Amino acid sequence: MSLVGEAGLRQLCRSGHLLRRIPLGAKANLPQGRPYIAPRAALAQATQMSTTTEAPVAPPAVAAAGSSQRKRVVFVVGGPGSGKGTQCDLISRDFEVPFFSAGDLIRKLIAAGGPAGQQLQEIILQGQIIPSEVTVGLLQQAMSATPSETVLIDGFPRNAENRTVWQSQVGYDCELVLLFECPEETMMQRLRARGQGRPDDNEETIRKRVQNFSAQMSPVLEHYRALGKVATVRTDRPIAEVHAELSALWRQRFGAGVGAAGAVPV
Ligand code: ADP
Ligand code: C5P
Ligand code: MG
Repeated sequence: MSLVGEAGLRQLCRSGHLLRRIPLGAKANLPQGRPYIAPRAALAQATQMSTTTEAPVAPPAVAAAGSSQRKRVVFVVGGPGSGKGTQCDLISRDFEVPFFSAGDLIRKLIAAGGPAGQQLQEIILQGQIIPSEVTVGLLQQAMSATPSETVLIDGFPRNAENRTVWQSQVGYDCELVLLFECPEETMMQRLRARGQGRPDDNEETIRKRVQNFSAQMSPVLEHYRALGKVATVRTDRPIAEVHAELSALWRQRFGAGVGAAGAVPV
């Protein structure tokens, strides 16, 4: 498998070539076996219409409505292991809002194969951030497949470039940034024990990811704090406690969801 270089990755993404490798239906993190009416129906349609071939991706019918729509975007940021995926799953379930994990989308792109995959995987194993055009392209594609007006985005932005490329490619900013604060040692312990078989959950990469997060996020947080968009939640507490605080915050800000609030794991 040939390496294409960073400039090549960006070019592949701009030309749309890279994104054509992932199936449209493999983008949303949908809660399993739970009521999830509108977004799920839309994504099911998108799945049926998609293929894994090299054919150019025609946006599904549902995406046409979604793609032109300016959405209410909530970024969920926090160090690796701070609990973003866990909490997004719960908020997504309770408030029927689709969530997209930048990391999951990148892993799916890698799993779909292609010349860029190996290079992206190497960047991930170094605990570094992949070219923003790729990630923003994946997120745009994912958002276009849901008619939901509100979306949660987990693990984005990760650095200043992520944010500026989002701004220029998407054209509007997020409404809110949920910042998960968790001590580094707690995050590292959680990642060591995560047990999902992720190649980047090894000791060396974990350390790099944690270090890079604090170094690279400060300008992003500074930017959003100046705009009054950051809500901070301490996540070194039981899952149910964090979820309760987040739910209250969500309800206050966006109103109640119609989804049933089920039991939350502790
Ligand atoms: P992130 O998406 O921020 O990297 P995850 O949601 O994947 O983090 O959580 C990392 C690990 O920590 C998972 O094994 C998860 O079950 C566990 N975890 C998440 N939140 C908590 C919490 N509040 N208390 C204890 N363990 C947690
Ligand atoms: O969020 P998650 O832990 O799933 O991210 C895994 C990896 O994916 C990150 O460590 C990083 O290498 C890459 N990533 C990225 N840009 C993002 C999100 C994730 O490069 N915005
Ligand atoms: Mg995660």
